[in-house]
Amino acid sequence: MPETPLPVRLLVCVTCRREGDDPEAPRQGARLRDALAGMLPDDVELQPVECLGNCKRSCTVALSAPGTWTYVFGDLTAESGPDILTGIGLLAHSSDGLMPWRGRPEVFKRSMIARIPPLSTLKDAAE
Ligand code: FES
Repeated sequence: MPETPLPVRLLVCVTCRREGDDPEAPRQGARLRDALAGMLPDDVELQPVECLGNCKRSCTVALSAPGTWTYVFGDLTAESGPDILTGIGLLAHSSDGLMPWRGRPEVFKRSMIARIPPLSTLKDAAE
């Protein structure tokens, strides 16, 4: 476990809606971003994005840190901030670049859309 937490980058899709949402209401993804902005530690970079290609299972976020895998999660709501904060803590303290299963919030156990290895570990396709 690293002594200093890794700086996590959190991408939040602000254009996500949930099925049945009032089309006139603020989008759940934007509401999730707003909620997270008030609860994240200073060393977490919050990056709003428009569509992560997971619209059918929104709301969607992606988490990564230097040397870690990138995780994409869906099925979130505007109220998922505390669960996301827990996941950030797990990744920030990872010693092997992976988010441990143990301790993950339930929504992170059942709604992982993808995990992508650190690009720095991939071989050059031309080799
Ligand atoms: S609008 Fe959020 S993933 Fe497409």
